[in-house]
Amino acid sequence: MPHPFCPENPKAVICDHGLVTNNTYVAQNTWRLRLSAERIAPLVRPGQFVMLRLPNLRDPLLGRPLAVYRTTPDGFLDVVYLLVGKMTSRLARMKAGEPLEIWGPLGNGFDATGYDRIVMLAGGIGQTPFLMLAKQFGERATLLLGARTKDRICCVDDFRKVGTKVVIATDDGSEGYHGLVTELIPTAVSEANRTKVLCCGPQPMLRSAFAECQKLGLPCDVSLESPMACGLGICYSCVVQYRQDDSESYEYVRTCYDGPVFDAYRLKMTNDK
Ligand code: FES
Repeated sequence: MPHPFCPENPKAVICDHGLVTNNTYVAQNTWRLRLSAERIAPLVRPGQFVMLRLPNLRDPLLGRPLAVYRTTPDGFLDVVYLLVGKMTSRLARMKAGEPLEIWGPLGNGFDATGYDRIVMLAGGIGQTPFLMLAKQFGERATLLLGARTKDRICCVDDFRKVGTKVVIATDDGSEGYHGLVTELIPTAVSEANRTKVLCCGPQPMLRSAFAECQKLGLPCDVSLESPMACGLGICYSCVVQYRQDDSESYEYVRTCYDGPVFDAYRLKMTNDK
């Protein structure tokens, strides 16, 4: 593998120091952070991610992968995160002007070339990698968003602003459809030809979305939220099993380098939560 920081590497990565410009509470336990990333922001493609690390700290030592939610023409980049551990607790306390280490853009991103429409299926904060792709598809995109309760829902106005049809499902029925978001797939695709389904969220949702797509004969890509140590393809902490081309046998691939977006028909789904 060519060195990840070599400029001749087509997957070259930029390491930079970003400054937080905004850190906003957007839903229960959920924050949106904007930081300056002048060299990285213009290169980001839909579905890619960055690694963020708190500088000068050994605890937490490692960086954290976060999907790029949005970039701006003047070199800013937004990510959305759930407050779930030490790193994100510290992130949530960050104020404008504080520095963060950032490296990226990372991963392969989405490919929906040749499709007329896309259906994006998201659980938790799985909608965050989709906004840049939704912008490209405009009214030809549908977002099916599942959440535990309505207090957990964020970012839907940004999708509506770019023309996406948004359909919400909640576990407790507090907003939208009362039930599993995957139950909305048949209706969302019924009127559309040449539709690709793209999914991001917890493993059980990915498994059930894939099963639904298999039943309906639809192409299905999944974006994995695997834990990662380096994000650069070096440490192999993020491997999954995948069938290349038409091969019958699985081999290990790195989610950070070969993914995070994979064809669900070739991926060995795990029973992880
Ligand atoms: Fe290190 Fe993927 S996180 S190889």
